[in-house]
Amino acid sequence: MRTQHLNFIACAVAVLAVCSLSSAQVTKYQEDENLGMEAHVGKLTGHAKDAATNYRRYCAGCHGDLGDGEGENAVWLDPKPRNFTLATFKCRSTPSGSLPTDEDLYNTVGRGLESSNMPSWNPLSDQARADLVAYVKHFSDRWKTEKSGAVIEIPPEPAVNAERIKAGQALFQKLECWKCHGVEGRANGPSADTLTDDQNRPIKPFNFHDQTKFKCGAEDRDLYRIFMTGLDGTPMPSFSDNVKPDEAWDLVFYLRTLQPMHTQEKEIAKQLGLKPINPNAPAPAAAPAAPNAAPTTQPQSNENKPQ
Ligand code: HEC
Ligand code: HEC
Repeated sequence: MRTQHLNFIACAVAVLAVCSLSSAQVTKYQEDENLGMEAHVGKLTGHAKDAATNYRRYCAGCHGDLGDGEGENAVWLDPKPRNFTLATFKCRSTPSGSLPTDEDLYNTVGRGLESSNMPSWNPLSDQARADLVAYVKHFSDRWKTEKSGAVIEIPPEPAVNAERIKAGQALFQKLECWKCHGVEGRANGPSADTLTDDQNRPIKPFNFHDQTKFKCGAEDRDLYRIFMTGLDGTPMPSFSDNVKPDEAWDLVFYLRTLQPMHTQEKEIAKQLGLKPINPNAPAPAAAPAAPNAAPTTQPQSNENKPQ
């Protein structure tokens, strides 16, 4: 009886050993396969396997060795570092819910994220950043089964004028941006204190009066992209179904009147004596459609080119 018992234990131990051995092998195999992940940015090809050392040195302290956002510093940070295993990203040129392009991630890594502890990694070489993008991707199988979303088109920026700013303000009211961002954009709308992100963590809307820069870039085109793609993982929605490209520029111009720096838009708003919206007042008579001004030549953003 006793020997039988011992035999059983020995057997069980042997089975366990074999099991854990084979699961270790599978994991190792998958890891090798995932480390074959690439990123393509302009002429650069990033290789995940070449980023392992840099990731451990520069990223793991916040994002964790496993990419789960649970690095040793994460407890001290708000907002929390991204969990790469979920493959949900704020800064995308692609529609809500879809994967960003490699270029989007490359730009984010270079730029860093305003109002968070995510630093700019521009001191690393272009190649090192492309390798890191591949490494970020290797944490989620979504990149093996799904393609990046189709990049949303941004028409050339039209010339700003008073009509466009007024039309933008009417949209800010109609689309209820104020419910979160507040009637003056001070992040104090009626919903502001109730918002949580995907992980059920409290999150604040952006305060237009405090900040000149956005997480996903500082230019007019970046601002356009933010509300046309939404910030996945946060309550900030995509408005691409409700806003036509021309109207989107009106909204961009209006938002620029709220920010603390000197802008042409702010100057026009001052001349107009533009008052903050009043959601309780009867809706203003429909503003005449903004004239379809011929696109002006704008200096093109170079953020999409590897620096
Ligand atoms: C000091 C902490 C810290 C370090 C170090 C750090 N990050 Fe981050 N990272 C963050 C935080 C915090 C966020 C989330 C910010 C937010 O949600 O606004 C983030 C977000 C990101 C995102 C998601 C961007 C998006 O669009 O959602 C990427 C990609 C990223 N980090 C890559 C990296 C890489 C690559 C490294 C190493 C080279 C790195 N991070 C190092 C704190 C850090
Ligand atoms: C349900 C609440 C909600 C509504 C409605 C909303 N936002 Fe947001 N918005 C947020 C939150 C929350 C953030 C901050 C996300 C973060 O920090 O990651 C944000 C961030 C932003 C940002 C800054 C993004 C960045 O990159 O830093 C802009 C610009 C913005 N919103 C514009 C708008 C506009 C324009 C509208 C209306 C068309 C709108 N929002 C409607 C909740 C909302």
